[in-house]
Amino acid sequence: MKPVHAHIAVVGTGAMGRGIAQIAAQAGSTVLLHDQQAAAMAAAQQSICEQWDKLVDKGRLDAAAAAACKTRLKTAASLQDLATCDLVVEAIVERLDVKAALFAELEGIVGASTVLASNTSSLSITAIAARLKSPQRVAGYHFFNPVPVMKVVEVIAGLKTDPAICTALCDYARQMGHTPVTAQDTPGFIVNHAGRGYGTEALRIAGEGVADYATIDRILRDQAGFKLGPFELMDLTALDVSHPVMESIYHQYYEEPRYRPSVITAQRLAGGVLGRKTGEGFYRYDKNVAQVAPEAPVPQVSEMPPVWVSTRATRRAELYQLLKDLGAKIETGPSPSAHALTLVAPLGFDVTTVAVVERLDPARTVGIDLLIEDAATKRRVLATNPATRADMRDAAHALFARDGKAVSVIRDSGGFITQRVVANIVNIAADICQQRICSPADLETAVVLGLGYPMGPLAMGNRYGPTNVLEVLVNLQTVYGDPRYRPSPWLRRRGAIGLSLLHEED
Ligand code: NAI
Repeated sequence: MKPVHAHIAVVGTGAMGRGIAQIAAQAGSTVLLHDQQAAAMAAAQQSICEQWDKLVDKGRLDAAAAAACKTRLKTAASLQDLATCDLVVEAIVERLDVKAALFAELEGIVGASTVLASNTSSLSITAIAARLKSPQRVAGYHFFNPVPVMKVVEVIAGLKTDPAICTALCDYARQMGHTPVTAQDTPGFIVNHAGRGYGTEALRIAGEGVADYATIDRILRDQAGFKLGPFELMDLTALDVSHPVMESIYHQYYEEPRYRPSVITAQRLAGGVLGRKTGEGFYRYDKNVAQVAPEAPVPQVSEMPPVWVSTRATRRAELYQLLKDLGAKIETGPSPSAHALTLVAPLGFDVTTVAVVERLDPARTVGIDLLIEDAATKRRVLATNPATRADMRDAAHALFARDGKAVSVIRDSGGFITQRVVANIVNIAADICQQRICSPADLETAVVLGLGYPMGPLAMGNRYGPTNVLEVLVNLQTVYGDPRYRPSPWLRRRGAIGLSLLHEED
């Protein structure tokens, strides 16, 4: 098949430019590599050819195809050599003035129909195109690192971009084996915007001292199915990359509280505690292996108290069944006896508030997170309140660990850990839909492929119940009085009438 863009150029041959050039040549295009540093250009050509050799060795590319790719990949000493390209993809330094100047220069060299695409991850496409004679030829083409592995690309239309250019870039992306998603020109586009819910809420939780980093990571892996906990992920990405992204999106959205960064990462960045690459981040690394302190052992409890479950507990019937399966002595009276361990399972509210409102003895009250059904998780999470007695905490811990399932005991906070993080991810995703930044379907695709979440954020909201997620947020807003928890209208409307978050009509 003839590629949509037969003759392309990639300007800036660093990590991203190399990847883009590789997949473009594999799709059948002739690719010119240009970089302001001649040595970078030659190094890129050599490294891409080595990638193809490796693919041949692994049997993923046949030798003849690799040889053909190599003949299609050339270097261009000067920008003038790009005159006949039908597409130029820019992957140079992330600076608006430098990118705009490059495009202005290119406009004087290339033909009238040549498309100019930018791989920027954080700059406005509209701003990059603003000074050009024909801004309609400029679009965002945002790939992810490493390009050949990360199979998604965001195609972004600036205010004046010709829509036909985006359609062609989407077709070309498919020819390169990638999945295109289209987004409006807004801060962070889709992936870097949708990704705000995870790390920032986890940092807020850590900042409140609810649990340590390793516990928060374990809970989000084992309860919600994330491959990497937020602190493992930040250690991998490194704070010199992720903290500036958090700040940039927050400020670009004029201090929208949902995206508020944390002083924790600001301080660690200042101190050079960046993550894996510096040997120390949220974890300490020994030969690149994270050193994680073992979990607290299950306490030995000689006499298990009877258990009483709040009448307002989430998934109350399931909790009863679980307690029966665990061999608990269950009290079924209207209120707990004087010795009973009292269990509450709130959505959004903290254990303290629930104990007070339900007139329970806080010293014997422990909370359990049941936003997600117990059978679907690999860990149970319990929360104490400041008055919870140690014997009651230990009894709850030992009881819920009886079948060998992992248990974490955390300090009290509105919404437990999983509820808070899930609700924030879903809420930000809902707001992306509300702003019509992209379609719900493209949002899901972009997040699964770009962030590796176990499911799209809207599917996550549907899985745990839009009404439940809405309740978590409304109650978090009450507990914290913080506008960051205000539900997006998209979620509020759908949650209120129990409709799928993927439902587009309004
Ligand atoms: P890099 O630093 O590895 O490579 C940039 C290359 O551009 C260098 O070889 C440099 O010599 C060259 N360059 C700089 N200014 C130039 C100019 N005026 N003309 C010609 N060449 C010039 O950078 P990287 O990581 O490849 O990023 C490139 C772009 O891609 C940036 O806009 C970045 O924000 C974006 N991006 C980066 C991602 C990443 O994970 N590294 C992910 C997605 C987008």
